[in-house]
Amino acid sequence: MTTEPAGEWARRRTFAIISHPDAGKTTLTENILLASGAIHLAGQVRARGENRRTRSDWMKIERDRGISVSASVMTFEHSGLRFNLLDTPGHEDFSEDTYRTLTAADSAVMVLDAARGVEPRTLKLVEVCRLRDIPILTFINKMDREAMEPEALLDDIQDKLALDVAPMQWPSGSGRRFKGVMDVRSNEFLVFPGVEGIEPGKAARRVSLDDPQIGSVLPGDEMAELLDGAEMAREVCPPFNDQSYREGHLTPVYFGSALRRYGVRELIDALAEFAPGPQPEPALIKGAQTSVDPASKEVSGFIFKVQANMDPNHRDRIAFLRLASGEFKRGMKLKAETGKAITISSPVMFFAQDREIADEAYAGDVIGVPNHGVLRVGDSLSESGTIRFSGFPNFAPEMLRRARLKDPLKAKHLKKALESLAEEGVTQLFRPVIGGDFIVGAVGQLQFEVMQERVSAEYGIDVMFEPAPYETARWLSGSDADIEAFGDRHKSAIAQDIDGDPVFLAKSQWEVGYSEEKWPKVKFHRTKERG
Ligand code: G4P
Repeated sequence: MTTEPAGEWARRRTFAIISHPDAGKTTLTENILLASGAIHLAGQVRARGENRRTRSDWMKIERDRGISVSASVMTFEHSGLRFNLLDTPGHEDFSEDTYRTLTAADSAVMVLDAARGVEPRTLKLVEVCRLRDIPILTFINKMDREAMEPEALLDDIQDKLALDVAPMQWPSGSGRRFKGVMDVRSNEFLVFPGVEGIEPGKAARRVSLDDPQIGSVLPGDEMAELLDGAEMAREVCPPFNDQSYREGHLTPVYFGSALRRYGVRELIDALAEFAPGPQPEPALIKGAQTSVDPASKEVSGFIFKVQANMDPNHRDRIAFLRLASGEFKRGMKLKAETGKAITISSPVMFFAQDREIADEAYAGDVIGVPNHGVLRVGDSLSESGTIRFSGFPNFAPEMLRRARLKDPLKAKHLKKALESLAEEGVTQLFRPVIGGDFIVGAVGQLQFEVMQERVSAEYGIDVMFEPAPYETARWLSGSDADIEAFGDRHKSAIAQDIDGDPVFLAKSQWEVGYSEEKWPKVKFHRTKERG
């Protein structure tokens, strides 16, 4: 790296792509990486996935179901900026993982399928973005196929997502009529050629709408339709406003086809123009609520994801650290607020095809920290050890299952396996105070299947997850006496989570409501902040 360290963090753009499965996230990711020169051949994002998968059996589930379970980060350069693209799992059973990944992003690109508009998963993900006011840029994909009318697509975003929309482009129809888009700011037409698509990284040819040449690209009636549509959009939609975008109230909208690379280069340019760099991160310092500025000197960051056993032969575990401030140097010793310290001697940076040892990193960057289970999701690291970043809740699981061993002699091993997988933060582990069971909590069925595969592949233990008589869990708070009194009355339903905190395993939502009414001095929490 050659640029001045002082301003280095300011050129980071860390973002995630959010979408409903099948909208084209993988295709877009790949074409963004191709356009930026980070990869050189189409198919490499998928190929990379395949290689990784063959290394580890549990990934078979991903392959069989055609879903991407694990999140990672890909780094590329464009327009003098360094982009860190965070990959979010598409499947809804991994929504908690996605939520945490979004805590590490400064902005998001929302991909919609032009024929489908806003889909259920899009809605959920935007809700998550809203929790942190993450600015969203919209890419309406698959315009090369028959699509909804652009007006209807904009209405859909506005109605379902309660976001103002500012179309930055206006398409000339869809399917075969999709010959390009009008850039509403410059009044130019961006010409998208036929089925062969645009060469990676190339911007579309621009023709002024006043140029007589335009007639050879768009026949008169299509031109009139384009102008009508764009005019109407201008009348009903607010103009782009940088502040509204940054506050998460307004989304600029772009149209294209990831498959043919129509509009991909323009999307990257838009990210370069609008996407915010690292933002101050809310944190608690010595008990006081404050925020950590990316420009501040002290190196700090937080772990938003832990991936264990990426290579089962080495039992390695990589914690993904999003830097929030300072100039990180390889070999630095960082401390958690709990007092534990770790010397980061082989930090990893992730490029599209490779991992590299990072000698330095700045606010906005994500480095992988290999460790042996010391680091957990939600851990804050800093030079002084006094910073604790806020906003890493565990969510009450929506499904609870009892872990049952085929070979009871392996109970100790199972404990270790379940604990270490729970430390990745994807599933939760509860230990009822009575009896020797392990209750595993998750957001969806698929997580149990992945757990089962991984416990078998990585620890050689056969485990089954069978129905438990509980439907949900709530963390308890209140005075020790009140919690004890509640616990005495509900002995068989009290458990400890992985940190030893008390949890109520409830048979039904109704039971939660009833208990809340009967025990006003005990608080029942849906989420728990780590720390
Ligand atoms: P996802 O990661 O969001 O789940 O979506 P992905 O990129 O895998 O795309 C889903 C399907 O949509 C793929 O087709 C892909 O080729 C297609 N697709 C993506 N972008 C476009 C586009 O701009 N135009 C058109 N026409 N299709 C697009 P598939 O048949 O399911 O897979 P494949 O065999 O092509 O890989």
